[in-house]
Amino acid sequence: MNKKAAKHSECKIQNFLKALPISDGAVAVRVMSHADAEAYASGTDDALVRRFAHLPLEKYTPQVVHDLIKGAIADGLRDGTLAVLTISDASSDSFLGSLVFFDVTSDDAEIGYWVAPEHRGRRVSGRALMLAMEIGRKLGLKKLRARTVQNNPASGKVLLDVGFEQIGNPLPQVAPSGKTEMSVNYLVEL
Ligand SMILES: CC(C)(COP(=O)(O)OP(=O)(O)OC[C@H]1O[C@@H](n2cnc3c(N)ncnc32)[C@H](O)[C@@H]1OP(=O)(O)O)[C@@H](O)C(=O)NCCC(=O)NCCS
Repeated sequence: MNKKAAKHSECKIQNFLKALPISDGAVAVRVMSHADAEAYASGTDDALVRRFAHLPLEKYTPQVVHDLIKGAIADGLRDGTLAVLTISDASSDSFLGSLVFFDVTSDDAEIGYWVAPEHRGRRVSGRALMLAMEIGRKLGLKKLRARTVQNNPASGKVLLDVGFEQIGNPLPQVAPSGKTEMSVNYLVEL
């Protein structure tokens, strides 16, 4: 290995690709593809996604998503520091939602997720979180972290249902919306 390659491999935190794709037979988690761009952009227009999900940009058009897939999303997967993944239908491969691993270390990572409004109500996120835990195990992570605003009962319920535990009392934290809201931290040991 030359010096540059050696330096790069030292920087690498996690190789998400070795755990992907993964499926439970109904729902899958896989790398984002350009075919997801329209559905992803449309999902980010939803009011609940805007309020509760961690979205760094103000507006996502399909073109912005195509550019991200080639840019920051590819870079994050290559560096092992960020994995912006697609939750898909295991049969049709169509886009159902988004699952993100961020603040990745060699031991743990925080996860965020959203499900497109037309696919809610079928516990897709619970299945995706179980798959996220399996990905974490395959990578050798010891735990996963998650955060929700207190006023997001659906998300809190899903986290508790799959085995996350609430850590401490709700605290004021800057929410993805940019507002300071009472927020709850969760953790699961893998
Ligand atoms: C949170 C989210 C991913 C859940 O979507 P989903 O996987 O389709 O979840 P479901 O609609 O099947 O609901 C899951 C559970 O929460 C319950 N639930 C849903 N809305 C609820 C509400 N407003 N109050 C209380 N419980 C609620 C459901 O009854 C269900 O419980 P059950 O499994 O016992 O029937 C989805 O609402 C979403 O994308 N929200 C916006 C983004 C977001 O909040 N992301 C999480 C940020 S941490």
